[in-house]
Amino acid sequence: MIAAPIIALALAGIAAASPTPAATTCADGTIVANSQCCFWANVRDRFKNEIFLNVCQENVHSLVRIAFHDAIGFSLNSEKGGGADGSMIQFGATELNFHANEGIDFIVDFLQPFADTVGITYGDAIQFGAAVGLSLCPGAPKIQAFVGRPNATRAAPDGTVPEPFDDPEKIFARMADAGFTPTELIHLLASHSIADQAGVDPEDSVLGAPFDSTPFSFDSQVFLETMLVGVLFPGSGPNQGMSSPAVLAVRRVTYYNVLSGEVSSPLPGEFRLQSDKRFTVHNQTACAWQENALSQATMASNFQTAFQKLSLLGFNKANLLDCSEVITTPPPATQKQAFFPPGKRHVDIEQGCATKAFPTTLSTAAGTPTPIPAVQVQDIPFGRRKK
Ligand code: HEM
Repeated sequence: MIAAPIIALALAGIAAASPTPAATTCADGTIVANSQCCFWANVRDRFKNEIFLNVCQENVHSLVRIAFHDAIGFSLNSEKGGGADGSMIQFGATELNFHANEGIDFIVDFLQPFADTVGITYGDAIQFGAAVGLSLCPGAPKIQAFVGRPNATRAAPDGTVPEPFDDPEKIFARMADAGFTPTELIHLLASHSIADQAGVDPEDSVLGAPFDSTPFSFDSQVFLETMLVGVLFPGSGPNQGMSSPAVLAVRRVTYYNVLSGEVSSPLPGEFRLQSDKRFTVHNQTACAWQENALSQATMASNFQTAFQKLSLLGFNKANLLDCSEVITTPPPATQKQAFFPPGKRHVDIEQGCATKAFPTTLSTAAGTPTPIPAVQVQDIPFGRRKK
């Protein structure tokens, strides 16, 4: 259970105190303009040391995923939950059973005890945690961090989280219902730059199979690599996820099957979601996808704007405390420009954008093609993700 008195104190502090104009030095040496953010500087450090182990690896990836799944439980048009309110944890008994949330329980296994121990609400743990996590990823933008979300009051209903086997129109409609255009969705999907799968194909050989060849860098590789022609399935694909072997047997097709969440990928070890691939060629998203593939800086800045909007769904930022000042600046991108992985070239690009050709200037990395290694789980004091 959540440590209610500690949270009440933290929230009361937010409401009562007014921002101080002079700089304050927190106990840990962090200098802040708003002294209330000292509490959050400490939470930041605990996140880094106890959850992320100071690297942009599996637990950061997990936090960014739950940040989306929790926040998108929101609608401009009907009752679909309170947005970025932590209901995914508070009402986990309901929401974690939804098909699209497969694997989120493992995140909750460590995030819930952490939030309870530190004394923060689940909504803040998810969104502040994602901002701190992203600050460890080379190439990520610095995410603004607003805190002070009260506890969730109700569960989101089923069906708010898009599935990789949904067709693009269905996904666009769901995102529009929550206030996002197809272009903003593509901007959010920069997150798949630091992503892997465990539930779409549950086979051991592809647990942690990443969506691009650089899953520890928040870079534009995922946009480029998803545009490459698919040539193989890294595991037993194509898979929808959570399906029995008998069901999978009848779903073995090669491309764009309405029942499959997976399509063929360009590189051994790399996993490709059907939805991501379809966005690369859809007339509403192909050019935004290509734009992100071609500019690391544009991709990061697009994501920053879209992710901030996501993290505030259901809330008015005027009612929250802005502690963005405690979020550290992420390391710079390791590559300024996406590159073709060894063995791939311009001819392997499947052009989707009708108005701009993919340039022929990108280089191919030296070396021979080798399988992309899986992302490993991290052992942390708050429990272990049991993929
Ligand atoms: C069309 C919308 C989306 C679909 C269909 C989708 C689907 C998926 C699927 C199937 C996985 C693999 C989960 C697993 O097997 O463990 C995944 C992973 C992930 N997704 Fe998405 N996603 C979407 C949008 C987003 C957005 C908007 C974000 C964040 C802003 C996001 C962040 C992530 C991250 C970080 C992971 C990796 C998690 C990990 O490695 O533990 N996704 N997504």
